[in-house]
Amino acid sequence: MSKSITFTVQPSESLNGEVRVPGDKSMSHRSIMLGSLAEGVTHVKGFLNAEDAVSTLKAFRAMGVEITDPVNGEVTIHGVGKHGLKAPKEPLDLGNSGTSMRLLSGLLAGQDFDCILTGDESLSSRPMRRVTEPLALMGANIDTQENGTAPLHIHGTKNLKGIDYVLPMASAQVKSCVLLAGMYANGETTTTEPAPTRDHTERMLNGFGYPVQVEGSKASINSDGKLTAANIDVPSDISSAAFFLVGASIAKDSDVTLQHVGMNPTRTGVIDILRLMGANIEVMNEREVGGEPVADLRVTSSQLKGINIPEELVPLAIDEFPVLFVAAACATGQTVLTGAEELRVKECDRIQVMADGLQTLGVDAQVTADGMIINQSQIGGGDVHSHHDHRIAMAFSIAGLRANAPITIQDCANVNTSFPEFRDLATSLGLKLTSE
Ligand code: S3P
Repeated sequence: MSKSITFTVQPSESLNGEVRVPGDKSMSHRSIMLGSLAEGVTHVKGFLNAEDAVSTLKAFRAMGVEITDPVNGEVTIHGVGKHGLKAPKEPLDLGNSGTSMRLLSGLLAGQDFDCILTGDESLSSRPMRRVTEPLALMGANIDTQENGTAPLHIHGTKNLKGIDYVLPMASAQVKSCVLLAGMYANGETTTTEPAPTRDHTERMLNGFGYPVQVEGSKASINSDGKLTAANIDVPSDISSAAFFLVGASIAKDSDVTLQHVGMNPTRTGVIDILRLMGANIEVMNEREVGGEPVADLRVTSSQLKGINIPEELVPLAIDEFPVLFVAAACATGQTVLTGAEELRVKECDRIQVMADGLQTLGVDAQVTADGMIINQSQIGGGDVHSHHDHRIAMAFSIAGLRANAPITIQDCANVNTSFPEFRDLATSLGLKLTSE
């Protein structure tokens, strides 16, 4: 959040072209974490060179791991082995990145050194008890602030014990945190999740040769395994592709192809939801790359219709709701989201902040405790706030494809946390977006 950036989007006609959006954020984080703990040299392709993933990269460098600067998505990690990390000399500043903080809490709880995890204003206000509580059950010793937030002071211990943890919410970060701590715990650690969430940790651990047993909603790990260096090919982030899936659906005369998109079934809820709304999305060239399904997606204009979003799809599209709310404003009739209270503890309260902005633009959007009710509306112009949340900034930019007057969006610098190329790619496809 070094400098303030304001986006302005002029009413735009259509989106056309073929692009490859940057690498998957979740997989980029995990490639650095697991590559660092592996024995040998790991080569990563398709790495997301954006602030969040770079926060993870810098944290591991600060713990003694030699990692090259990302160049065209290529990163080389000289793994130090599971017990090779060194105490960082200073607190690890994880910026805006919740994934870095929650996964590192688990991974660092069982080291033989202490460390402090800090973050920016947004990250320092997000709930961390969801990770420190299960870790305490394992015997970890982590101090939070009084209200359960960062900075976190981790007092490393060699005495973690395995637990059988039933997650109170669907969260891949909490699941991953507990499993990573389980690599250092005596006995077996098992997580049970209330609904499927992204499984990149489980897949990538297995890809590095570290056994994780997955059976239905349960995943189990113990401390017997070791990680062996691997080559990781990170596909494009479906969460970034989502902005153009919605954009090309709501804009007239549009035809966009998104190349090499990660299609892990725990991530494709946005496609299912848009298809239920009547979107034209063609999945082409389905293939498998490095243990993850990948495809090219072609999306053309459609008249979307309002739906009741099935609750089981919510965790599978959890990061895509800001832009799905924009789709809902353009869909005939009413769209109702329920069961999505987790949106309130993302980089900002995404239910309140999106509803506020949509209302500013003249959209009939009503907040509920766990979601939103949106009726089809003409999107107007206005001045909205992203609250330093990257996905809110990009969602309101996409609204320009159906707005009848300019929209200005404040506080957009954090687009750099996940999608630094957003403005350039979006304008190359036809969005009239400028930043200053
Ligand atoms: C992520 C999990 C999700 C998601 C976040 C990335 C991950 O968070 O919102 O952007 O990489 O594990 P929750 O676990 O809080 O749902």
